[in-house]
Amino acid sequence: MNENVERILFTEEQLKARVREMAKEINKHFNGEPVVVVSVLKGSVVFAVDLIKQLDMPVSLDFICASSYGSGTISSGKLVIKKDVELEVEGQNILLLEDIIDTGETLHEIMKMLKGRGAKSIVTAMMFDKPARRKKAVQADFIGFHIPDEFVVGYGLDYDEQYRNLPYLGVLKRSVYEK
Ligand code: XMP
Ligand code: MG
Repeated sequence: MNENVERILFTEEQLKARVREMAKEINKHFNGEPVVVVSVLKGSVVFAVDLIKQLDMPVSLDFICASSYGSGTISSGKLVIKKDVELEVEGQNILLLEDIIDTGETLHEIMKMLKGRGAKSIVTAMMFDKPARRKKAVQADFIGFHIPDEFVVGYGLDYDEQYRNLPYLGVLKRSVYEK
């Protein structure tokens, strides 16, 4: 285990198994209809890679980079689009992938934007849901795991751009960010 991780919440095996279940549910939902998968950079990339391999409908893949977090652990509530979706959204079924929903601000803003561009439908899948600090009600169609109000890293999630490569989800030691 990484020396800055206090404890593991979900092992690599648990995460893989849950993604497999989610893919089955998502396949059932779309029933062969084509989807544009929109992965929110950078955190959801690991989840996206694991998930799309198990989707059985025609899939195209795109990315959006919107950030409400700097290097700290508290959301500023302001969303900045750093990289926009490049594929056509109008008339498409969108499967929006997020690593984690915390306050809900990020997902809320991205949903609003994609709806405004005339998406036919928007379905959301998030690997982790941290409901304790929710400010905006969000549409959560597929959720991997609910997690406690702690700062977590690994499986794509970072602290100051580190730890995305950890194959498990772990709680970051407070001493790392409380200095
Ligand atoms: P909001 O508050 O907009 O935040 O729902 C979603 C984004 O915040 C980041 N986030 C975290 N990143 N560990 C992380 O590594 C966490 O515990 C955590 N909580 C929120 C994340 O980038 C997500 O997309
Ligand atoms: Mg982040």
